[in-house]
Amino acid sequence: MQLPPEPKTPSWLIGLQFESNPFNYMDAISKRYGDIVTLMFGSTPTIYVSNPSGIKEIFTNTKEIAARGELNLGFALMTGNQGVLQLDGLIHKNRRKILMQTFHGVRMQACGKHICELTEKIIGQKKVGKPFIAYPTIEDITLKVGIEVIMGLDKGERHEKIKHLFTSILRLNVQSLIDKILLTIFGERDLGRWSPHGYNLYLRQELFQLLLFEVEERRNQLDFSRTDMLCDLIFAEDETGQLLSNEEVRDLLLSPIFAVADASATAITWALYWIHRLPTVRSRLLSELESLGDNLDPMSIFALPYLNAVCNEVLRIYPTQLFAFPRLVESTVEVMGYKLNPGTVLIANIYSTHQREDLYPQPKEFQPERFLEKQFSPYEFLPFGGGSRVCIGATFALFEMKLILATILSRYELELVSQRPERPKYGGLICYPASGVKMVKRGLRQRQGKSRE
Ligand code: HEM
Repeated sequence: MQLPPEPKTPSWLIGLQFESNPFNYMDAISKRYGDIVTLMFGSTPTIYVSNPSGIKEIFTNTKEIAARGELNLGFALMTGNQGVLQLDGLIHKNRRKILMQTFHGVRMQACGKHICELTEKIIGQKKVGKPFIAYPTIEDITLKVGIEVIMGLDKGERHEKIKHLFTSILRLNVQSLIDKILLTIFGERDLGRWSPHGYNLYLRQELFQLLLFEVEERRNQLDFSRTDMLCDLIFAEDETGQLLSNEEVRDLLLSPIFAVADASATAITWALYWIHRLPTVRSRLLSELESLGDNLDPMSIFALPYLNAVCNEVLRIYPTQLFAFPRLVESTVEVMGYKLNPGTVLIANIYSTHQREDLYPQPKEFQPERFLEKQFSPYEFLPFGGGSRVCIGATFALFEMKLILATILSRYELELVSQRPERPKYGGLICYPASGVKMVKRGLRQRQGKSRE
């Protein structure tokens, strides 16, 4: 087997270079080695592909290449051992179907109103002239969407505790340098609540227990008037026709809530950054929103073409998830002219595909128009991955993103506090804006561009 080219840098240095600026590192690797590169993790060759035909092979060749759940066990600390990410085969298919059925049109319509109201309330509470950090503000909205809409959790002590635990776990993803050093010293050992890993385990245990109480309580006190997704999961049947266990329901809930809160908040914060950095983009978006009149109906917002192009361009230029989840070669296969042995890991490199000059001329420029002028294939534009693990929340994520952005833009005048470029920061899976994007509210917005205090 001849592997694709491999950087000769030691893996610890690759790690450091990647951490210090993931986008610059990936750009340098693509420039030097092209669109198929090998990185060795121990003795396992891991091949990163940013070529559309190679990516098509990874996503569609289900005979020789498998989306094994065991490759994602590293995320089980957050998503539970029975989350959809950790499953494969028939069970994976069944759980994906169950989750996807919960995102039906009627529920989306109902969620839409809730999302707009939450946004208006949370941004409305920001004081005029007082700077705030956009990321935690947006995360406050998206986490509430996850807990109130997905779980249908009523306000109260448990709601507050669960929200606090989710936020604390998400904060651990975006660790400070000191946390990383501590983790290196102590390793992944549980040395009690005061050690980094022990604290992580403690939070997870608390969260998992509270969620389990909620699932048990709902199952014991069936309320047919409820319309949240948790209700659907309680009645869902597995591939043998049995009801799911309470633990299975809890684990199925976890990845959607984390994704709604974290991936969506990141994408929306990057969008706020780009829109407020580029006045022409903002004013074109405002004109499009004005065309809807006073009635900001969620489905009409969802259908706006320029807003759609802006969201796509945000997900192209800084994809929230730089890579799809790993796939495993199970029997010898040829990808882009390389014969790969079983045991080789393949990763669709979303970021570098979105930076290809031949697909996206001037890839560093934020140009939403490219999505109005050209239709891209699912192997050229893939912010939500593809194949058997394609994101189940893609439509919901775009819906939520558009509604939050449209509500903020049409109701409030926001500005960036600084014009300095925002740096990316890699947090284990997601690429966050490093400073969180500092913004300031200048006032309320009236139609036709007039603003009032
Ligand atoms: C902007 C927001 C989001 C982005 C960019 C995003 C991106 C992705 C990507 C790249 C994957 C991997 C696909 C692959 O390996 O081929 C994925 C998987 C997944 N996403 Fe999302 N996602 C977002 C929001 C959401 C939301 C809102 C939900 C749920 C409501 C969600 C639920 C999931 C789940 C459960 C998986 C795993 C699917 C499986 O293993 O079969 N995501 N997402």
